[in-house]
Amino acid sequence: MEVFREIQVLLLDNWLILLLTLFFTKLLFNKYGQGLNSIPGPFLAGFSDFWRFLCTTFSTAHEVHIELHRKTNSQFVRIGPRTISISDTTLIPTIYGTHSAFTKSDYYNLSMMPLDGRYTPSLFTAVDERYHTSIKRPIATAYSMTTIIEFEPLVDSTSALLMSRLDGFAASGVSFDFGVWLQMYAFDVIGEILFSQKLGFLESGTDVAGIMADIRGKISYAACVGQIPFLDKILTKNPLFLKIVPTHPIVTFTLERMRERATSMAYGAGRKRDFLTRCIEAQARYPDIVTDRMIILYNGDNVAAGSDTTGIALRTIFYYLLKTPACLRRVVDEIDHADKLGQLSSFVTWHESTRLPYLQACIKEALRIHPVVGLIIERCVPKGGIVLGGHYLPENTVVGMNPWVTSRDEGVYGADADTFRPERWLEATQEQLIAMERANLTFGYGKRACIGKNISMLEICKVVPQLLRHYEVRYFEDFVSDSNSDACISCPSCGQTRSGQFGEDGLCGKMASKCTFEKGLGGLS
Ligand code: HEM
Repeated sequence: MEVFREIQVLLLDNWLILLLTLFFTKLLFNKYGQGLNSIPGPFLAGFSDFWRFLCTTFSTAHEVHIELHRKTNSQFVRIGPRTISISDTTLIPTIYGTHSAFTKSDYYNLSMMPLDGRYTPSLFTAVDERYHTSIKRPIATAYSMTTIIEFEPLVDSTSALLMSRLDGFAASGVSFDFGVWLQMYAFDVIGEILFSQKLGFLESGTDVAGIMADIRGKISYAACVGQIPFLDKILTKNPLFLKIVPTHPIVTFTLERMRERATSMAYGAGRKRDFLTRCIEAQARYPDIVTDRMIILYNGDNVAAGSDTTGIALRTIFYYLLKTPACLRRVVDEIDHADKLGQLSSFVTWHESTRLPYLQACIKEALRIHPVVGLIIERCVPKGGIVLGGHYLPENTVVGMNPWVTSRDEGVYGADADTFRPERWLEATQEQLIAMERANLTFGYGKRACIGKNISMLEICKVVPQLLRHYEVRYFEDFVSDSNSDACISCPSCGQTRSGQFGEDGLCGKMASKCTFEKGLGGLS
């Protein structure tokens, strides 16, 4: 008893020293006790995930990752005590492939959205592969290309609205942010595809229900806090937070659309073959899996994962075309030529777009040079550990590839991998093409690859030629600007220009659109 009392007194008297000792022992164990210390990386990264957190919060993680791989000249870089960034693209099938035993990491838990004070994993956030397969099966066909093509008229009506807004800007001469309008376009298309209803972004010119800001905030939160996932358990996965924020704007929005649909069906309104209808049909076939809650999750995922991403992709494509006038000229010539030959409908169709090889090369190249995802796509090493690239990685080590790192791989894309050069996709041999396609992780890879890729590609492939065909886009040298970007759309008939910024991230530059001239439709409108 006396001994215990003495220990107690000792502990109480020296609690600070004890805590510090434990803390530093843990740091040393992180660095040297994980069996990963032979892998190169920033010295501090091995001690704690705080390095990753700082890197993501205060710098541009994708640039840091590219530099680390190049500087260390290593395909394996340690960026956390148990986190390895890999750049060897031949390992993509092993880590992400259909039969891979690697699973998603805790990072994905952060993106779960609360509903009625509870969190349920969705297609995107599910970590358990069996659960994921069970919830994917009922709805997978709704994302197939044959289904998606049925949505073309919905994309066209949104393109028409976007163009009328662009024409409106041109007529009034008001400055505007083209990047934001492309993003609003992407949101409205998703609304049409999911609920046969534009979300109202283009119509109102505002961020409806704060959804855009909310997604931005959520992505920033997930990117930063996701580097130390247990922080999220304290910050948002607690009863107090759930009481204050029991649900999410996207969830509320989806619920409202479902209620509207239920009411319209009760009044005998015809069923529209949109995504929501397909969910209701899946519910009839799989009532145990496709619950109302699951329908909300499917749709919530689509809004969260499908609009901001497509908006970024559209910005990127226009940005690189405007910054590379020779490519812009060539792609516009291709579109105009097809137009003259009568090969384009009034709204360019998916099939017509896929028959424009240079346009397709430009889209691929833009998505390669500026992938939407800029962090490693995390996976956990399966039970028993694994040897990859000569390194033994214990089970639960987090590994992953950053799409920016793989898409700048000079071994795959050539010495000019950092340059926007669409021609590379047309010149490559069949063998090179396979390697280039595989290394492009823009939409992920394998069993957890982007299920909405077809939706995005449909939008992109249709709207890019549609805008390039109706508006002359050119680089505007003389524009006096305090931003680093400078491009405009101008009227080829009157030469007038209007200016505005593309995006707050500096992605795109000065934008102007005096657009009374519509090339594709022939003549002045
Ligand atoms: C340019 C646009 C897009 C990009 C770059 C993109 C990117 C990605 C990536 C990289 C993944 C894989 C994440 C991982 O492995 O951890 C993913 C998954 C996913 N994406 Fe997309 N996405 C886009 C558009 C869309 C659209 C339009 C939708 C839906 C309408 C969508 C819905 C999803 C869903 C549900 C998943 C999870 C799939 C699963 O795990 O089964 N995405 N996306």
